[in-house]
Amino acid sequence: MAELLRYSTPAELYAAAHARVRDAIHAAIDEFGTCSIALSGGKTPQPLYQALAREPLPWTKTKIFFADERCVPPHHVDSNYRMVQQTLLEPAHVSPANVFRVPAEVPEPERAAEQYEGTIRTALQLRRRQWPRFDVMLLGIGDDGHTASLFPGSPALDERDKIVASAQVEKLRAARITLTLPAINASALILFLVQGAEKAAAVQAVLEGRSQNPLPAARVKPMTGKLVWMMDETAASKLG
Ligand code: 6PG
Repeated sequence: MAELLRYSTPAELYAAAHARVRDAIHAAIDEFGTCSIALSGGKTPQPLYQALAREPLPWTKTKIFFADERCVPPHHVDSNYRMVQQTLLEPAHVSPANVFRVPAEVPEPERAAEQYEGTIRTALQLRRRQWPRFDVMLLGIGDDGHTASLFPGSPALDERDKIVASAQVEKLRAARITLTLPAINASALILFLVQGAEKAAAVQAVLEGRSQNPLPAARVKPMTGKLVWMMDETAASKLG
């Protein structure tokens, strides 16, 4: 069952999300000595990353991964890595040794996905068929109900064996690399961060919609972990 948290203003939403992510990082390090966190791109999480960068968190014990990436070089304006580097990694002085970037500059998206899967397996010391258990999986939602780079109708939604998949996003005429649903659903804490009235219809469809043809974000259901939706009132405005 998902935990739904609604906040009157964006400022309250981001303050609460900051506290929740901070606490989850500390809890993972207290329990395991290390924390693995997978970050999404887009506009919504940027204030959160900037807030996290302003406080002395145990970054030396935190491994930072990406929920998805656009198939562009790391310095490209569309790169999620570039955005996270500018809002979090540089201001928080996170060591590059703790950042596991998608090799999205690799010409073949399938190869990039395979390489990233190998990076994740090595960084988390996974056994052959073991799924990663990210301590924190930070996700957003598009107005079409996509999350990470799992878009409606994408074959990547049906991937059951791989941790990372490539996806051709027709509507964007772009290739993406994305964690798969089983990889996302193996996380300890999945946190959707949603802000803005333009997301209200997608939020309602995901949280109150029919189950026959669930949107990608509606298929995020942690196997054993927690699912938390953190929204401001504009994003939650169509919920009952
Ligand atoms: C990406 C993200 C994507 C994002 C949604 C929402 O690469 O763009 O990972 O899944 O979370 O598209 O984006 P906004 O936060 O910009 O609305």
